[in-house]
Amino acid sequence: MNIRSGLAKGLAKEADLIETTSDVNEALDKFDAGNFQLVMADVRLPGDRNGLDLVSLLKERKPDTVVIVITAHGTVETAVDAMRRGAYDFITKPVDLNLIRQQVNKAREHHRLQAENHELKDRLADAGEISGIVGDCETMQHVFRQIRQIADTDATVLIQGESGTGKELIAQALHDLSGHGNGKFIAVNLGALPETLLESELFGHEKGSFTGATRRKPGCFEQARGGTLFLDEITEIPAKSQIDLLRVLETGQFTRIGGEELIFSDARIVSATNKNIQQLVDEGVFRDDLYYRLNIVPVHVPALRERRNDIPLLVEHFLNHFYKRHNRPPRQVADDAMHVLTSAAWPGNVRQLRNVMERLVITVTDEVITAESLPAELQMEFRPAPGSARPLAEVTEAAEKDAIEAALAALNCHREETAKALGISIRTLHYKMSRYDLH
Ligand SMILES: Nc1ncnc2c1ncn2[C@@H]1O[C@H](COP(=O)(O)OP(=O)(O)OP(=O)(O)O)[C@@H](O)[C@H]1O
Ligand SMILES: [Mg+2]
Repeated sequence: MNIRSGLAKGLAKEADLIETTSDVNEALDKFDAGNFQLVMADVRLPGDRNGLDLVSLLKERKPDTVVIVITAHGTVETAVDAMRRGAYDFITKPVDLNLIRQQVNKAREHHRLQAENHELKDRLADAGEISGIVGDCETMQHVFRQIRQIADTDATVLIQGESGTGKELIAQALHDLSGHGNGKFIAVNLGALPETLLESELFGHEKGSFTGATRRKPGCFEQARGGTLFLDEITEIPAKSQIDLLRVLETGQFTRIGGEELIFSDARIVSATNKNIQQLVDEGVFRDDLYYRLNIVPVHVPALRERRNDIPLLVEHFLNHFYKRHNRPPRQVADDAMHVLTSAAWPGNVRQLRNVMERLVITVTDEVITAESLPAELQMEFRPAPGSARPLAEVTEAAEKDAIEAALAALNCHREETAKALGISIRTLHYKMSRYDLH
């Protein structure tokens, strides 16, 4: 019995269909006619084309095909050449059937992950992302529609969402799609500036207007003329500056500190916060008139745990990004790893996911990213610690509370809509809210 028929027999259980041939042309014909996941080829074949040529021909036809090459013992160079041409693996003679079975199963898993990966790529391409914002869940699609609708207007936009959800990315997208080709996108973080510097940063100052003001400096409002001014962490603005800001928003006019000249700015204002601004208004910390002026068009960005379906897409997106940036070969994500990724809590939202992906690209040297290669903090969230079993009622209640809280946040605390979204009556919602202390 030759190796070929021996292998076909030995592997009969591993595959639905096995075809054999000793001829390159016939191999190609059979390959074209069928839908084969795996090809095993001896390097030495009769005729003027050998098994290495076959690897190249198969990869040209269907790049996804997994090819395992069989070489004579000790021909390392041939094996290297085969891998270079796209072979998945090689086997040296004499062949060990058990080893081959293992390799075949590994190759099949590889093929399956590869197919899954392509499906994700297609989804990514279809997701209708704008300006590099990835997401095809309904809430993100809603955000995209909003962006498209309002980008070319000068309407003031307030973006709300937890830290790391992509608020700045959305502000940038609004600017990119605004068609205001000439103006700049100027971002200013109101939380990062001491009160004394804030007004100078926003409105600019004249030379000599205070100690250290050695030159005239235009402020952000001036620099963003004809463009977009992004006021980040808007709730951090001190009470006095709130009044000044409101005045500028209403008139579009201001003076530089220490100056008299009236300056006009038509900058489009986009502001953002990760705080509950409505609550700060209710508490009297944030002026309500300023809030209404900023919140002409509210955009709510959901937390990552509220759009878990987008996680595989984001994983794919960031992996591709970092493979290129760090010049690393692509890896595949095993099912167990994807499971952990899609069920983690992600308190840092997309930023945290992005950082995890960058770390993985740099540190994982295996072909497949497995659950073990993920940072411990994600696994701990996912796996209950041994002995940590809790009464089921407690677990369900916690889940119920989370779901209600998330829905309320997503729907701006609109109770009727929240009840509808959760599929419960408004009375039940009220009852549960008071029970879980959600107000
Ligand atoms: N949907 C998304 N698609 C692709 N990248 C995203 C997405 N959302 C966020 N990111 C990326 O995640 C990181 C954090 O986003 P961003 O800075 O916009 O968050 P943020 O909401 O402004 O956070 P913070 O409140 O902490 O300022 C950025 O690198 C951004 O490019
Ligand atoms: Mg930000």
